[in-house]
Amino acid sequence: MKNVTIVSHPLVEHSLTILRDKTTRTEEFRRHADIVSKILMIEATKRMQLKARTIETPLSKYNGKELQDEVIVVPVLRAGLAMLFSLQEMLPKASVGFIGLERDEKTAIAREYYKKIPVILSTNIVFVVDPMLATGGSMDDTIRAVKDKGARRIIGVSIVSAPEGVRRLSEHHPDVPIITAAIDEKLNDKAYIVPGLGDFGDRYFGT
Ligand code: PRP
Ligand code: URA
Repeated sequence: MKNVTIVSHPLVEHSLTILRDKTTRTEEFRRHADIVSKILMIEATKRMQLKARTIETPLSKYNGKELQDEVIVVPVLRAGLAMLFSLQEMLPKASVGFIGLERDEKTAIAREYYKKIPVILSTNIVFVVDPMLATGGSMDDTIRAVKDKGARRIIGVSIVSAPEGVRRLSEHHPDVPIITAAIDEKLNDKAYIVPGLGDFGDRYFGT
């Protein structure tokens, strides 16, 4: 699966283990989800383009650079919000589109309950963020939705992925790079990622 990058970093390994631990409480869960999200976004934003910007330091002229790309972030509600917060600290000017998807508990098929995505230019860079890539249904639908709005430069970012979800995205969206912290073993019969970390939204939002 050549469109997938697994971000390997000691801080990610450390935080992921705390996220996976069933005894981790909401406050710690949030803190470590934020750390992993930031590191993943650093990898995902490597593809951003720069333009020249000349400034004056206190001592001399300096030929520097600034970000050129206009960014749109689309968190998959609800759990994707967890990644939006850390991304906004790094890219405060990013526009935000929302898509609300909820998996049916029996079929694991995601149902859309909300969508507000801004106009997207083909030059915009679009980050679709969702911490769990399980069957891949939610990310697949979201990528399709942003493509329908005109997106051509899309990057998917997830914290924990299942092989099934990664395979689905590679087949349906080979043009979309996926950045993730881990590809786990499998899905269980309820389409939960194993070993995984359980229900991300419930654990992050304390519900
Ligand atoms: C979870 C998770 C992803 C989705 C992944 O959302 O946050 O959005 O499942 O599963 P998939 O790859 O099989 O589509 P959930 O439906 O539990 O809603 P929530 O974010 O509101 O908790
Ligand atoms: N959504 C989650 O929150 N966890 C999983 O393991 C799968 C989907």
